Amino acid sequence: MPGHNAESSFNEKFRPRFHFTPRMNWMNDPNGLIYKDGEYHLFFQHNPKENIWGNMSWGHAVSSDLFSWQELPVAIACTQDTGIFSGSAVIDYKNTAGFGTTDNPAMVAIYTEHRNDQSKQSQCLAFSLDNGRTFTKYEGNPVLDINSPDFRDPKVQWIDGRWLMTIARPDLHQISFFTSPNLKEWEHLSDFGPAAEVGGCWECPDLFQLGDKWVLIVSLNPGGYQVGSGTQYFVGQWDGKEFIADDLHTRWLDYGRDNYAGVTFNDAPENRRIFLGWMSNWEYAAKIPTHPWRSSMTLPRELSLRDGLLIQEPIRGYGDRAQVAFTTTGGSIRISESAERYVEVGLRDGKVFVDTSNAWTDIAAPTVQEVEVNALEIDIQVYVDRGSVEVFACQGSISITNLTLIETDLTDVISSGDTTIVKCEQLSLSRLVM
Ligand code: FRU
Repeated sequence: MPGHNAESSFNEKFRPRFHFTPRMNWMNDPNGLIYKDGEYHLFFQHNPKENIWGNMSWGHAVSSDLFSWQELPVAIACTQDTGIFSGSAVIDYKNTAGFGTTDNPAMVAIYTEHRNDQSKQSQCLAFSLDNGRTFTKYEGNPVLDINSPDFRDPKVQWIDGRWLMTIARPDLHQISFFTSPNLKEWEHLSDFGPAAEVGGCWECPDLFQLGDKWVLIVSLNPGGYQVGSGTQYFVGQWDGKEFIADDLHTRWLDYGRDNYAGVTFNDAPENRRIFLGWMSNWEYAAKIPTHPWRSSMTLPRELSLRDGLLIQEPIRGYGDRAQVAFTTTGGSIRISESAERYVEVGLRDGKVFVDTSNAWTDIAAPTVQEVEVNALEIDIQVYVDRGSVEVFACQGSISITNLTLIETDLTDVISSGDTTIVKCEQLSLSRLVM
């Protein structure tokens, strides 16, 4: 397959150490996130031939721990006239679609087929009987076609004895729900929206239960918190037919620039809700100066709810060693490569902030993110990898994810103001200067 394998040293400028990146070429949204038999599957929007968007196909990687990933050959390839856009994967344990058997249940990918002439987006199936290594497109495709050029990103799950599809009507700022007994015939249940942020297309939805509530994630582009792509969420109830939001206030899943199209794994062990997002922004993704690949995923984050707010906690693993944690009543830390190149994170004027002005390039993008908090003392955790900084504040209720463009590993942590560093487990952060 062109572009795959070989040519990368995996140690290029800006190549992350503990975030997933494809070996070669372009990547955007995570797709088909699913766990089966000890393996997490990460499929992703991928151009197997070039380092720009195009030839959209599903790339594939597997991991047993969500940190070390093995990239496999392209799972579902585009055709001359169509792209394989975002979607999800399920294991059909009851063999409702008849693609496998109950002894060897099929992995079924439900993706959007996008016609390159922009005339239509419809929903299609492909199935695998060898744990996602090879897929066969269903001969009865498409399985859901409403004759619309804007209808995409199906998230399918087995809920209460039937399949539920949560899917975007991007231009209408709506999320639609469909049900099916067999993945092949779909019946419309209801629509949600427009609501809260509608400054761009609605894409890549996800719906799941956390405790006694349900959460609906909706990505939108443009119209994000500051610029370009952003992800919002709603909290409410799913009654088997409709999503009923507790309120229609704006809630940002991330206040940084670079966390888009994120969704959660189906079938994760112990009922955990694990989220992964694309760590970039359509505003400038194509300009990020990395070669021979482009884009990485966020850290995998476990989701929970507290007081109506989504809490994000990175899954423990390799990345923990590049974490700095501190508490502050007003002060900041600088995590630096040199006196000129650093990221600053802290609390000032009642706002948690991340400043990447000195860790960026001339690509136009806001480099200071601020979020109001109403607490005098706050906790902040910072994960720094080559090419990114992920900040979690106020026990994970605030997440700020940003790309950075610092060439080497950040080595020093310098604190200022009233800042207590409680933890500094270092991979590359080799010196702590107080
Ligand atoms: C979101 C998105 C999806 C679409 C895919 C195409 O980033 O626009 O809506 O399926 O990217 O690559």
